[in-house]
Amino acid sequence: MEIKRNILLNPGPATTSDTVKFAQVMPDICPREKEFGDVMEFVSKELTNFVGSNDKYTTILFGGSGTASVEAILSSIVDDKTILIINNGAYGKRMCEIAEIYNLNYVEYKSSPIEEINLNELEEIIKTHNSKSLSGDKNLISHIAVIHHETTTGILNDIKAIGSICRKYEIDMIVDAMSSFAGIPIDMDEMNIKYLASSSNKCIQGMAGISFVIASTESLEKTKNIKPRNLYLNIYKQYSYFKDNYQMRFTPPVQVLYALKQAIIEAKEETIEKRYERYKECCKILWAGLDKLNLKKLVNEKASSMLLTSIIEPEIEGYNFDALHDYLYNKGFTIYPGKVASKNTFRIANIGQIYPENINKFIEVLEEYFTGIV
Ligand SMILES: Cc1ncc(COP(=O)(O)O)c(C=O)c1O
Repeated sequence: MEIKRNILLNPGPATTSDTVKFAQVMPDICPREKEFGDVMEFVSKELTNFVGSNDKYTTILFGGSGTASVEAILSSIVDDKTILIINNGAYGKRMCEIAEIYNLNYVEYKSSPIEEINLNELEEIIKTHNSKSLSGDKNLISHIAVIHHETTTGILNDIKAIGSICRKYEIDMIVDAMSSFAGIPIDMDEMNIKYLASSSNKCIQGMAGISFVIASTESLEKTKNIKPRNLYLNIYKQYSYFKDNYQMRFTPPVQVLYALKQAIIEAKEETIEKRYERYKECCKILWAGLDKLNLKKLVNEKASSMLLTSIIEPEIEGYNFDALHDYLYNKGFTIYPGKVASKNTFRIANIGQIYPENINKFIEVLEEYFTGIV
C-alpha cells in the first residue's frame, strides 16, 4: 500500500517512515501477555542505551504526550526543598506552571528567549539563594530544571555547562529533551543529567502517545519515600512496577509501542550522530534558502539547535501566515506558527524522516510563493 508522503516541518509529531507506520498493524494482543512485555522491555532498555548505560539509568514509560513526562518528574522527585527552573521559552514557562499547580518551592530564572543563558548569572542566583537559606535546609536548591532544545525559538541550551554547575553545588539536573532526544547526541553521565524527559513522536521518529522519563536509578531510589502527589504520573511507582514484570501500571498504547520499537531499530541503524548530521545538512540548505529570499532568523546561528528555525515574518504587502501555510500545505509541506511574544515569526523544524532533497524542494516552493505575491 502506498501512503501519501507529507513533509511535516512542524516541530513534531514528525514525518515517519512507512516501516514505522506499518509496524502498528499487528495482531491484537492483550498487553499483559509476556510477548508484549518483551516489546516494552526492548523499548525501555534501548531508549536508555541512546543516552546512558542500563546499569546506571532506567527508562520509565507512560501513555501520554510529552508534557506527561515533564509533569511526572516535577511532581514525583522534588520533596520540600527548592527547584530552580530556567525559563527561556514556552516550555520553561510550562514547567513553572506545573511547579505552581503542585505547590512546589520553586525559583524561576527568566532568561532571554533568543540569547544564550548567562551562566555566571545563573551561578550567582544559586549562591545568593543558598546563602540566604542557611537558616533552613528547606530553601536550599536541590534541583535545576532546564529545556535542552527550546522548541519555542530553536535555541539550544548548554546543558553540559549547566550540568557542571549542578555538580559543583550538588544539585540534580532535570532536562526536558523533548525535541532533542535521538536528534542530538546526549550523554547523561558526561552532562550530569539525573532526569530526562522526552516523547515518542519527535526526533526518535515514532508515533505520538508515549512519554518517557530516563532517570539515574540511584537518584530515583532516593525518591522512594516522597509522598505521591498524583496516581498516574508517579515515577517511582511506575518504575518499581515495571522493573519487576515489564508492565506499565495502566493500559499502554499498544500500537504506538510497536511503532516505537521499529523507530528505535531505525534510529540504531542510522545512529544518532548520523541523524544529527542529516538534520544539520537539512538546516544548512534551509538557511541558505532563507538568505536567498532575504528572510531573517530570530536566533543567531551559534545559539541555534539547527533542528528548528524561527523566521521573522517579512513586512511585505500581501504576506500573511495563513495564506503561506495553505499554499505550502497544498504542496505537501506543513509549517508552524511562531510562539514568541516579542516578534511575529513562523517556524520550520527539520526533524523526522526528511532529507536534503525535501528541503531543497521546500525552498523552491517557498520562493514560488514569494515570487507570486511581490
Ligand atoms: C521542549 C518541549 N517540551 C515539552 C513539550 C510538550 O510536549 P507535548 O505537546 O507532546 O505534550 C514540547 C512540545 O513540542 C516541547 O517541544
